Amino acid sequence: MGNTNTIGFIGGGQMAEALIRGILESGLYTAETVFVTEPSQKRRNYMTENYGVQVFADNTPVWNSCKTVILAVKPQIMGLVLCSSKEHVSTEHLIITIAAGLPISFYENGFERNDCRIIRVMPNTPALVLEGASGLSGNKNASKNDLLRCEEILNKIGKAVILDESALDAVTGLSGSGPAYVFTFAEAMIDAGIKAGLPRPTAETLALQTIAGSVKLLMESKKHPAELRAMVTSPGGTTIAAQHVLERSGFKGILMDAVEAAVNRSKELGKS
Ligand SMILES: NC(=O)c1ccc[n+]([C@@H]2O[C@H](COP(=O)([O-])OP(=O)(O)OC[C@H]3O[C@@H](n4cnc5c(N)ncnc54)[C@H](OP(=O)(O)O)[C@@H]3O)[C@@H](O)[C@H]2O)c1
Repeated sequence: MGNTNTIGFIGGGQMAEALIRGILESGLYTAETVFVTEPSQKRRNYMTENYGVQVFADNTPVWNSCKTVILAVKPQIMGLVLCSSKEHVSTEHLIITIAAGLPISFYENGFERNDCRIIRVMPNTPALVLEGASGLSGNKNASKNDLLRCEEILNKIGKAVILDESALDAVTGLSGSGPAYVFTFAEAMIDAGIKAGLPRPTAETLALQTIAGSVKLLMESKKHPAELRAMVTSPGGTTIAAQHVLERSGFKGILMDAVEAAVNRSKELGKS
């Protein structure tokens, strides 16, 4: 069994790469303490050349050398991975899964034991640029320290919050699917600029910087969104004219309905 200063990844794809970048750049782990299992030779070469991590075609070295193991394969592969890993798994391992949708019970059933320390994470795609938002939840065997350790790792690729597993459907609907809503909003802003006569590159630059700058202002000022909105809404001006249209069209209600639909769909998928 490995020591606490090593970390293993089963699956060396996009999300694993983001996590590896985050933990190496932040100094949480050094390259020689990161073990990655990846079936593709091309991908293994890529991971070694770019990050200097230790790569393997088989899962055994990861389970034997690492006490923290991150399961980063696609959900449809997970059953196979659990089946081939169950002989290696012990209570010494902290097992963190980032697969979308699969409940903790899926892992307990797959490992055929209920004494494992398992943490389920719902990350999102901005993790790929180290700006992810993740919700995490542990099973009954995961200790407070396990959760804090996982939170520390996830905070290297953005921000993480600890919740009950029952809240992960809400996390999926809000932040898991959330980037898609923001991309839709961005697309609409760009199209609106083009409709108003701006060249596409100009509309893109202005729309994206407006979104990025507004989010930065929200986070840094710590003011409520309504307060910041009031600051740019002068009497009889342009912003209130636009705001009137947004309110009349039920913009906020539509967004809330959309998130609710995603939460409900996540619940349905979890049951199936
Ligand atoms: N991408 C996202 O933004 C995002 C967001 C939230 C959650 N997630 C979750 O994160 C997990 C990983 O997603 P991803 O986007 O990083 O997928 P990905 O890029 O496809 O990475 C998965 C990697 O696992 C490898 N793999 C396949 N079978 C394996 C096995 N038996 N043992 C070890 N490795 C194996 C794959 O290799 P091959 O390609 O050669 O098969 C691939 O390199 C998924 O469960 C997904 O639900 C992703």
